[in-house]
Amino acid sequence: MTASALPLIAIDGPSGVGKSTTARRVAARLGWQYLDTGAMYRAVALAIQRAGISLDDAPALEGLLSRLDLAQDQGRMFLGGEDISEAIRSQEVTRLVSPASAHARVREVLVEQQRRIGASGGWVVDGRDIGTVVFTQACCKVFLTASPEARARRRFLELEAKGQPADVDEVLTDLQRRDLADSTRAVAPLRKAEDATELDSSDLSLDQVVDWIVAKHLAHA
Ligand code: DC
Repeated sequence: MTASALPLIAIDGPSGVGKSTTARRVAARLGWQYLDTGAMYRAVALAIQRAGISLDDAPALEGLLSRLDLAQDQGRMFLGGEDISEAIRSQEVTRLVSPASAHARVREVLVEQQRRIGASGGWVVDGRDIGTVVFTQACCKVFLTASPEARARRRFLELEAKGQPADVDEVLTDLQRRDLADSTRAVAPLRKAEDATELDSSDLSLDQVVDWIVAKHLAHA
C-alpha cells in the first residue's frame, strides 16, 4: 500500500452480483465498517417518491437534498431517523432509483456524504463508482462481475427463498435493463477503475469471493 492510499476497500460491479453481502462479510472479517451506497441512492429515490416531486423540478429537488438526513447503522438504512431498510427494496423504489441515480445533483450530494463518512479509512464501500469517482485513492479496488445468467439465477433463488416466486427470464431482463442504464448514463457510469482487479464470480461461492478479497487486501496492506 502506498503512503497516500486510503485504507478502504472499494467494491464496484453490476446489479445482482452479490456486492452487498460480500462487502458486509469482508468488513466483518477485517473488523471494518460497511457502507452500502446503493441504499443511499434508494433512500433518495424513496424520499423523492414520498415528496411527490419531479427530478426536473430543480428548486424542489434542491430543498429535498438540503434536508436529507441519511444514516446507516448495523446494516440498516435510516431516513430522518426512520428505518427504511424494507421500504427501499420495493419495486417502485427499484424503478425510480435508476433516474434518480443518473441525476448529477443527486450524485454530487451523495458522493460528498460518502467521502465524509469514509475519509478516516477502515471502510468497505460498495457501489458503481467507488473506485472510479468516490474513493480513487482507495488502497484496494475490486470490480466484481458475474455473467447475467449467473446473477439472474442467484436473484431467482433468493426471491424463491423469500417465498416470492419469480420468472427467471423476467429477472434476467430486469438485470439487463439495469446494467444498460448503469453503464450508459452520462454521469459516473459503471466501469472498472484502471487500478481495480476484476473478479468473475460466476462459478465461485460467496465464501470463495470473500476469501479472495480479504487475501488480496492483506497481500497489499
Ligand atoms: O446496488 P443497488 O441495486 O442497491 O443500487 C441501487 C441503484 O443505485 C442502482 O440503479 C445503481 C445506483 N447506484 C449508483 O448509481 N452508484 C452507486 N455508488 C451505488 C448505486
